[in-house]
Amino acid sequence: MSTTSSRKKDHIDLCVNEQVSFRAKTNGLEEWEFAHNALPELNSEDIDTSVSFLGHTLSYPLIISGMTGGYGEAVSINGALAEAAEDLRLAIGAGSMRQALENDEYHESYTILRRNAPTVPILANIGAVEVAVMEDATPAQFLVELVEADALVVHTNPLQEFLQPEGEARFRGVIEGLAMLVRSLEVPVILKEVGAGISREAAMRAHEVGVQWIDVAGAGGTSWAGVEMLRRKDGCEISPAFWDWGIPTAHALEQLRINRPEDMHIIASGGITDGVMIAKCLALGADLAASARPLLEALKDGGVDRLRHRLCGWKRDLLGVMFLTGAANIDELRRKPIFNRDHE
Ligand SMILES: Cc1cc2nc3c(=O)[nH]c(=O)nc-3n(C[C@H](O)[C@H](O)[C@H](O)COP(=O)(O)O)c2cc1C
Repeated sequence: MSTTSSRKKDHIDLCVNEQVSFRAKTNGLEEWEFAHNALPELNSEDIDTSVSFLGHTLSYPLIISGMTGGYGEAVSINGALAEAAEDLRLAIGAGSMRQALENDEYHESYTILRRNAPTVPILANIGAVEVAVMEDATPAQFLVELVEADALVVHTNPLQEFLQPEGEARFRGVIEGLAMLVRSLEVPVILKEVGAGISREAAMRAHEVGVQWIDVAGAGGTSWAGVEMLRRKDGCEISPAFWDWGIPTAHALEQLRINRPEDMHIIASGGITDGVMIAKCLALGADLAASARPLLEALKDGGVDRLRHRLCGWKRDLLGVMFLTGAANIDELRRKPIFNRDHE
C-alpha cells in the first residue's frame, strides 16, 4: 500500500478505536442558549427545515464531512455514507483525493459517492499543501469530474501537517493557489480546516482572492494533532498543548458573525454531535453545519441503519429547537436571538 493509502487507513482506524477528541477544550457551543418561547404560535408539522445548497435542496442544513477514500475499505465506508446522504437528502464530501492523483487503483472509493448519492451535492477534496504547488487547475478539475462534484473543498491543515510523521508543512503559495483555483474552476471552492478553526483574518484573506465558502472546522471535536501524535513513532516528546490547539467552533463563528462580506458563506463544523448544536451554529451565523467522526462512529457501531437513525435524530432535534423558538423555517431560525451564558 502506498504512503497515502496507508495514512488514510490509519486515520480511520485511529478515529474509530482510540480517544482522539480534544481533551481540555470544547467547541464552545455549550456557552450559548436560545430563549424558550412558551407561546410559539405555530404547528410543528408546518416547520420547514430544508435549505438550498449549491443548487440542491437539502432536507436540513448538514454536510457529511469528507473523511476517506484512496484505499480498499474506503469503498464500503464512502458507499454507506453516500447511501445515508441520499436517503436523508444531505450533502456529502469525499476525503482527501490526493491518492486519486497518484494512480487509478482506488478510484472506485471516490466514484462510489456519486453512484450511491446521485441527487445530492458532492464535494471533492484536496489539501492546501497540494494547492500551494499546483501549477494549473488540471488536477483539481480532474478530481471534480471524477466524483461529479458540485464544489471543491480545499482542506487547510497546518497543525496536522506539522505533526504528521510524513507531513509536509509547506504552505508558501497557498493563497496564490486558491486564487488560481477560483479563477479556473466552474464549481465553487470551499476552504475548510480540519479541527483547528479558521480565524476571521484567514477567512478574509481567502475571500480577497475569491473564496466565498468557509468551513471553520473548529476545535472541540476530533483533534487531528492528537491523531498524528498517536501515529508518531520517533520518540520525540511533543507538547500536549498541541493536542488542544485551535479556535473553538463557536468562537470562530463569533469572529465571522458581524460585518462579514455578504457573499461569504459559512459552514460550521468541529464537534457537532446533535441537532441542537446545528441550530446554535445557524443562529451564530452559519449557513450549514457539518460533521465527520460522530457519523463515522455511528456507521462503525451499527451500520448504515444506525447512521440513518443518528441523522434523523439530528433533524428531529433541529425541528424541536425551531418549534421551541417559534421559527417556521431556517431563515427565521438564523434570526432568532441566542445568548451567551458567560456574557450575561
Ligand atoms: C476519519 C476521518 C478522516 C478525515 N479525513 C479528512 C480528509 O481527508 N480531508 C478533510 O478535509 N478532512 C478530513 N477529516 C476532517 C473532518 O472533515 C472534520 O473537519 C474534522 O474531523 C472535524 O469534525 P468532527 O469534529 O465532526 O470530526 C477527517 C475526519 C475523520 C474523522
